[in-house]
Amino acid sequence: MASDAPPPPPAMPPPLTRNTISFLGWIVTVVIGALLAILVGADILFHREDPYNSVITYLVLPVFFAGGVFIILFGGFLEWRRRHRSAPGEYPPLPIVDINRPWERRRVIAGAALLALFFGFSAVGTYRAYQFTDSPAFCGRVCHTVMKPEYTAYQHSPHARVACAECHIGSGAEWYVKMKITGLHQVWAVATHTYHLPIPVPVENLRPARETCEECHWPEKFSDSMEKAIWRFSPDETNTAVRYNLLMRVGGGSPDRGEGRGIHWHIGRNVTVRYWPRDRARSDIPWVEARIGEAPPRVFRSADCPPGDPPAAEIRVMDCIDCHNRPSHIYQSPNQLIDVALANRVLDTSLPFLKRNAMDALAADYPDTPTALASIDRTLSEKYSALTKGPRGEEQVKRNIGALQNLYQQNFFPEQGVSWKIYPNHQGHYEFPGCYRCHDARHASNDGKAISKDCDLCHQMLDQAEGDAAFGPFTYHGGPFQHPRNLGDIWKEGNCTDCHGLGASARLTGGG
Ligand code: HEC
Ligand code: HEC
Ligand code: HEC
Ligand code: HEC
Ligand code: HEC
Ligand code: HEC
Repeated sequence: MASDAPPPPPAMPPPLTRNTISFLGWIVTVVIGALLAILVGADILFHREDPYNSVITYLVLPVFFAGGVFIILFGGFLEWRRRHRSAPGEYPPLPIVDINRPWERRRVIAGAALLALFFGFSAVGTYRAYQFTDSPAFCGRVCHTVMKPEYTAYQHSPHARVACAECHIGSGAEWYVKMKITGLHQVWAVATHTYHLPIPVPVENLRPARETCEECHWPEKFSDSMEKAIWRFSPDETNTAVRYNLLMRVGGGSPDRGEGRGIHWHIGRNVTVRYWPRDRARSDIPWVEARIGEAPPRVFRSADCPPGDPPAAEIRVMDCIDCHNRPSHIYQSPNQLIDVALANRVLDTSLPFLKRNAMDALAADYPDTPTALASIDRTLSEKYSALTKGPRGEEQVKRNIGALQNLYQQNFFPEQGVSWKIYPNHQGHYEFPGCYRCHDARHASNDGKAISKDCDLCHQMLDQAEGDAAFGPFTYHGGPFQHPRNLGDIWKEGNCTDCHGLGASARLTGGG
C-alpha cells in the first residue's frame, strides 16, 4: 500500500542564495539598486548636464551593481556545491522546475521579475552610457585639465552645438568601436599622466574629414561665392580702422552648380590633390600632385624639394581639414581677437591706443591664467588712470578690461601650453602661410607653370576703406588691393605673413 502511494511532494528546500556570501551580495545589490533607481529617475525627470554625476550613474554604479549580482550568484553556486558534496544523491544534478508547485511558481515569477528589472535597467543604462560617453560634456569636462582648451574653444566656435563625436567619430559602428578603443587608451593616459601637452596635431586616427564634415556640409550645397567683411585696426592713437569686403570664390560642388571652379575645386568629385607635408602641423609643403579625372597627374615642387618621389607613407590626400583645420578649436591671435572685438564694439575704439595696449597685454607670456588676468587689469588700469577719474570713464575702462580678460580666458591656456602659436590656422594667408603653403607662385611643375598666387584667383576685392570711411556708408569701389596707411607697394616685397605673421606682428605694433 505504501508502495502505491505517490511520492510525497518534495518540501520547499531553502533557496540556494540563502548563505552568507549571497547575503552580502544582496545588501550590495539592493543598496546600489536603490541608489541607481533614484539617480536614473532624477536624471530622467530633471535632466542636468553634469558629467561627474553621469560618470557615477552610468559608469561606476552599474559596475558595482553587476558586482553585487555576481556575488549573489557566486554564493549560490558555492551553496549548491556544498549541498551536493554533503548529501550526494539527495538533490538532482540540475534543478527540476515544476511550476505546478506554488512555491516553485513563486520563485520562478520572482526570478523572472528580477531579471526583467535587471535587463530593463541595463538597457536604459547602456543606452545612457552610450549617449553620455559620446557627449561633449564627457569628452571635454571629464578629462578636465587635459582638454580644457579644446572644450573652451569649441564652446565659442561655429560648431558649439555639434557634438565632439560628430567630427571625431562620425556615423557607423566600425569607427565607433575604433574610437572607443583609442578612447580607452586616452583614459589610461590621463589616469597615469602619460599624455603630452599641448595635445599634438594631427590627431592620430582622426577619421577622414569627408566622412564626417559631409554629413552636414555636402558639396552640393556649397555656395558659389560669398562675401566676407574683414576688419583690421591700426596700433595708432585713434585705432584707425581698415575694412575689406572680399568676395570669396568658394565654388559649387555639383555639375549644375559649377563643379570644378573656385576654392572648393580641390575636393571636386573628379579632382584629387595629394601633398607631402614635411612637419606635423602640415605647414611646410614641398611637393604637390594634382590629378583631374583620367588626365596624367601634374606635380609641383618647391625650390627646396628633394629630387625623386616623396616618402609614400607621409603623403596626404587633401580634404576639408587641410584648409579648415580649426573648425572648432579656434585659438585666435591677439591681433585677430582685438580686431574682431573692436569691430563688434565689444572694445571701444574711442580709448586712445587701445589696439596697441591691448595687443601688449594679450601677447605677453604669462605663467598661468590668474597671473595673466591680474596683469591685464593692472597694466590697462595704469595706462588709462587719467580716464578713471570720472565715473563714466571708470566704467568704460573697467568694461574694456573685463572684455579683454574674457578674450584671454577663451583663447590662451598657459597651464596646458596652448595658444594660437601652437596651432596654425590654414584658412588664409595673413598671419599663417595657409593657402600660400602651396599658392606662393614658387611651386613649379615640370611644364614650367606654378601654383598661382594671382590675387583674383580666390577672392575679388569688392571694397576697401580706411579711417572713418570704413564705418560707411558702404559703396563698392572694387579695384586691386591697396596696402593700408599709404604704404604703397610695400606688400609686394613679400607675403603678408612676412610682416604680419607670427613673431612679426609684435614687431610691427611695438613701434607705434
Ligand atoms: C567641427 C568638427 C569638430 C568638433 C565638433 C570637435 N572637434 Fe576636435 N578637432 C577637429 C579637427 C578638425 C581637429 C584637428 C585635426 C588636425 O588638424 O589634425 C581637432 C582636434 C582636436 C584635438 C587635438 C588638439 C587640437 O586642438 O588639434 C582634441 C584634443 C580635440 N579635437 C577634442 C575635441 C573635443 C573634446 C570636442 C568636443 C568638446 C571636439 N574636439 C569637437 C574637429 C572637431
Ligand atoms: C553635425 C553637423 C556638422 C558637422 C559634422 C560639421 N559641421 Fe560645420 N557647421 C555646422 C553648422 C550648424 C554650422 C553653422 C552654420 C551657420 O552658422 O550658418 C557650421 C559652420 C561651418 C563653417 C562656417 C564657419 C563660420 O565661420 O561661419 C565651416 C567652414 C564648417 N562648418 C566646416 C566644417 C568642417 C571642416 C567639418 C568637419 C571637420 C564640419 N564643418 C563638420 C554643422 C556641422
Ligand atoms: C582649399 C581649401 C579648402 C578646402 C579643401 C575646403 N574648403 Fe571650405 N572653404 C574654404 C574657404 C577659403 C572658404 C571661404 C570662406 C572663408 O574664407 O571663411 C570656405 C568656405 C566653406 C564653408 C562656408 C561657405 C559655404 O559655402 O557654405 C563651408 C561650410 C565649408 N567651406 C566646408 C568645407 C568642407 C565640408 C570641406 C570638405 C569637404 C571643405 N570646405 C574643403 C577653403 C577650403
Ligand atoms: C596642398 C597644396 C594646396 C593648398 C594648401 C591650397 N591649394 Fe589651391 N590649388 C592647389 C593646386 C595644385 C591647384 C591647381 C593648380 C593648377 O592647376 O595650376 C590649386 C588651385 C586652386 C584654385 C583654382 C581652382 C580652379 O578654379 O581651377 C583656387 C581658387 C584655389 N586653389 C584656392 C585655394 C585656397 C583659397 C586655399 C587656402 C584656403 C588653397 N587653394 C590652398 C593646391 C593647393
Ligand atoms: C590661394 C588663394 C588666395 C590667393 C592667391 C590670395 N588670397 Fe587673399 N585671402 C585668401 C583667403 C582664403 C583669405 C581669408 C579670408 C578669411 O578670413 O576667411 C584671404 C584674405 C585676404 C585679405 C584679408 C586679410 C586679413 O585677414 O586682414 C586680404 C587683404 C587679401 N586676402 C589680399 C590678397 C592679395 C593682395 C592677394 C594677391 C597678392 C591675395 N589675397 C591672394 C585666399 C587667397
Ligand atoms: C614688407 C612688410 C609688409 C608686408 C609684406 C605687408 N604689410 Fe601690412 N603693414 C606693414 C606695416 C609696416 C604696417 C604699419 C604698421 C603700423 O601701423 O604700425 C602695415 C599695416 C597694415 C594694416 C593696418 C593694420 C595694422 O596691423 O597695422 C593692414 C590691415 C595690413 N598692413 C594688411 C596687409 C596685408 C593684407 C598684406 C598682404 C597682402 C600686407 N599687409 C603685407 C608692412 C607690411
